[in-house]
Amino acid sequence: MEYHIRQYGLQQGALEIQYIEEFFGEFPRRKTASEVVARLGNRDHQIVMAEAPLPDDPGMVVPVAYKVSHELRASETDPKLTDLVTRLADCVAFENRKILYCWIGGTRRDWRGQGFFRALTEQQEAWALDNGFDEVVVKTKNRLYDMRGTLDHLEFNVIKFEPNPDDPRESKVYLSKRLGGAVLDRHRSTRAVVQVG
Ligand SMILES: CC(C)(COP(=O)(O)OP(=O)(O)OC[C@H]1O[C@@H](n2cnc3c(N)ncnc32)[C@H](O)[C@@H]1OP(=O)(O)O)[C@@H](O)C(=O)NCCC(=O)NCCS
Repeated sequence: MEYHIRQYGLQQGALEIQYIEEFFGEFPRRKTASEVVARLGNRDHQIVMAEAPLPDDPGMVVPVAYKVSHELRASETDPKLTDLVTRLADCVAFENRKILYCWIGGTRRDWRGQGFFRALTEQQEAWALDNGFDEVVVKTKNRLYDMRGTLDHLEFNVIKFEPNPDDPRESKVYLSKRLGGAVLDRHRSTRAVVQVG
């Protein structure tokens, strides 16, 4: 199967993210387009979406999975990112290295388990290598079991664990993958990529 991926410019990509997040009932706080623009505006970033036909109307192609990532620098000013960098300080080397943070992403329920997220992740890794990134970092929680299982399959390594003594389901897990040619050699998906906007 060939996966059809669109890589978006910021303005159109932000609107597409706002739209697709409406389909994710499990996200307590969905991102708005303006939040996305504010976060990504002044840094290297990538917005990718995979699209597929609707099963009951195959002529209609819709976005079914997405992934948004951005550069994370040693000196951030946004309080959320400052906090993240502080937490990563003992497990990620920032000096003279370019770090990509996987911010948000997912696959719509009806299309899960069909390789869409792997295809987006592989596209993200190819783009990251082309753009000089050294490492991809992601944060998740114990209770996001689907995502943890998926990150395992995608060969992300746990680099830090922050237990939540009151509720272990809320404990935070940080994972990363160091980039290099060998990462591309292990890719499995066939992808057609279109740049939009
Ligand atoms: C996690 C998620 C993105 C996976 O998307 P997906 O398109 O179904 O993933 P894929 O089909 O590309 O699977 C990629 C790999 O992960 C594995 N995988 C997928 N779901 C899994 C699960 N629930 N448990 C274990 N492994 C899983 C697949 O077997 C595959 O491995 P393989 O390629 O070695 O066979 C999707 O389930 C999702 O959107 N979940 C909710 C969103 C979420 O939790 N987001 C995080 C909020 S921060």
